[in-house]
Amino acid sequence: MAEKRLQPPAHIGVIMDGNGRWAKKHFQPRSMGHRAGAQNFRTITRYASQIGVKVLTVYAFSTENWSRPTEEVGALMGLFKDYLREALRDFMDENIRVRFIGDVSAFSPDLRELIAEVEEASAPKTGMVLNLAMNYGGRAEIVRAARTFAEEVQAGRRSPGDLDEALFDRYLYTAGQPAPDLIIRPSGEQRVSNFLLWQCAYAEFVYFDILWPDFKTEDLDRAIAIYHSRQRRFGGV
Ligand code: IPE
Ligand code: IPE
Ligand code: MG
Repeated sequence: MAEKRLQPPAHIGVIMDGNGRWAKKHFQPRSMGHRAGAQNFRTITRYASQIGVKVLTVYAFSTENWSRPTEEVGALMGLFKDYLREALRDFMDENIRVRFIGDVSAFSPDLRELIAEVEEASAPKTGMVLNLAMNYGGRAEIVRAARTFAEEVQAGRRSPGDLDEALFDRYLYTAGQPAPDLIIRPSGEQRVSNFLLWQCAYAEFVYFDILWPDFKTEDLDRAIAIYHSRQRRFGGV
């Protein structure tokens, strides 16, 4: 009898890490690792949508990744553009809604234009929401939310006493979305690296000793199985 597939949690986050080490292992420049990683991102995204994930958030570029060599940052920007052009051309028959979380104002005008086009073109989609975290930092997101709220207080639209967790949540990039249930980090590192700091309060973390370009659809199934084996208590008993 075929094994019954486990229902995936509603929101999965993935820290796509290990491209550089993958390249090194294959005696290639780091940019080739990013290329392989970007290719794998396409595969995993499609699979997540097929198995019924409602929200998939992938960490593609952090606010700290600007500190990498110019050449590497340039290669990443080129890959983002390739993907977004492809998304506009080919992906439109897929029912995935693409959203961007992070400060995209820091990107070049042509990349920003592609971001806006993809967001607009995929807005009517009703399937999985794909959050692309680009120039994203959890701390920056929280500071931005606090600043926006303060501006509303200053403008007389809100008072400080209005603020509670539910309202604060509405100032985040992920407003209206469920918090991540499961966060997967391949590559062997066991840290959060500024990903979804507010939202991950009760997420289950799964770390794998696999480099992102080698992460397979079966590994996603495996992470989901591990997730199901955990007992979430949310502070209760
Ligand atoms: C993740 O892979 C991709 C980005 C951070 C953009 P890395 O480039 O961090 O790969 P490692 O950690 O050096 O192996
Ligand atoms: C986290 O990976 C960011 C992304 C995967 C986009 P990093 O490689 O930047 O994280 P650290 O430096 O190992 O913490
Ligand atoms: Mg890394």
